[in-house]
Amino acid sequence: MKLSKKIDLCELSPIRKFYPYVVAAERRGVKIHALNIGQPDVQTPSVYFDALAAFRQNVLEYAPSPGIPELIEAIRGYYLRLNVALDPADILVTTGGSEALLMTMLCILDEGSEVIVPEPFYPNYNTFIRAAGGAICPVHTKPEDGYRYATREQIEPLINEKTRAILVTNPGNPTGTVLTAQELRLLADIAKEHDLYFICDEVYREFIYDGGEKNTAGCFDDLKEQLILIDSVSKRFSACGARIGALISRNRAFLEAATKIAQARLSVATLDQIGAAALYGVEPTYFEATRQEYQHRRDVCYRKLKEIPGVVTTEPKGAFYTMAKLPVDSAEDFQMFLLNEFEDNGETVTFAPGSGFYATPGAGKSEIRIAYVRCAEELERALDLLKLAIEKYNNR
Ligand SMILES: Cc1ncc(COP(=O)(O)O)c(C=O)c1O
Repeated sequence: MKLSKKIDLCELSPIRKFYPYVVAAERRGVKIHALNIGQPDVQTPSVYFDALAAFRQNVLEYAPSPGIPELIEAIRGYYLRLNVALDPADILVTTGGSEALLMTMLCILDEGSEVIVPEPFYPNYNTFIRAAGGAICPVHTKPEDGYRYATREQIEPLINEKTRAILVTNPGNPTGTVLTAQELRLLADIAKEHDLYFICDEVYREFIYDGGEKNTAGCFDDLKEQLILIDSVSKRFSACGARIGALISRNRAFLEAATKIAQARLSVATLDQIGAAALYGVEPTYFEATRQEYQHRRDVCYRKLKEIPGVVTTEPKGAFYTMAKLPVDSAEDFQMFLLNEFEDNGETVTFAPGSGFYATPGAGKSEIRIAYVRCAEELERALDLLKLAIEKYNNR
């Protein structure tokens, strides 16, 4: 029996693949500060749990394939507050932003198609694109340039007859880069001129720091055909376990294509949709409070990283991640050292090694991604552990 060539080209997630070693370290009684995964400790708004508790039905039925009407209305309401007018038919509720991404790739890619993606990128993009038969065509970015990539000079030479889409994460995971309104418009123009889909993964939309403007490609009314928005409650409302996202597009042919998959997978979990409808209605003050909290964590993380000799990093401007180049030969070996050999007072720390965030072979080998999703006190300790571990690793 054979596995498909498509799956052979996929990798395990660099964010999750160390889990067996985490379990083994925990069995030895080691406390792990997990900064490898974007799982915040911020409380989920209670309206989610209240909505679930109020649910009374004798039969837990399948939901409609596009999503329950209350949730679709709640998503529309949230977008209207961003000045983005959507029709209910523009919204397809999905099992997390993850399913929205996979559906997108299945709908737009053929064997050999390419998607232009700035690297470092969210590693699961590679899996979704590979599973649909495509490949990432990376736009290389550097910390020295603040990981910026949105220029004609960098994007246009990569476009060829195999290119189907430009995919951006804004604000960025793993770099924390936020596109300016002009950059977003430029990318939209390039997509339009070259007849490409413009996929904007905006799951971190609400997390922008230092007074930066929140922007969404959803406000480009002229992008009816090109624009595909990826949405999710996971990070915005600290509700990762709800597994609710949305695929949003005004391109009817595209959403009808996605509906074929949506109908085949029947529906998204009914109860989580009910809870998510309540989340989309939270007061805007909720976003301000969480934004302030993450900005504080960003400040701690950046300050502590700068204190470690030999570390190269830039100040992230959004989302809740940062990339850092460490003075180690291999971040992957270093991660194994952290989990198998290192401890200080019975504690260690985990990150996501950088190479899985790149498509270019050999890139990111000494880099890590840090998710600053834990409270400031824990972050301080975790980054002290990182500093200590680098010293010990390099003095072995
Ligand atoms: C950039 C980005 N897009 C999409 C997702 C998918 O999230 P979910 O499936 O939980 O909505 C994540 C999760 O970390 C992410 O970082």
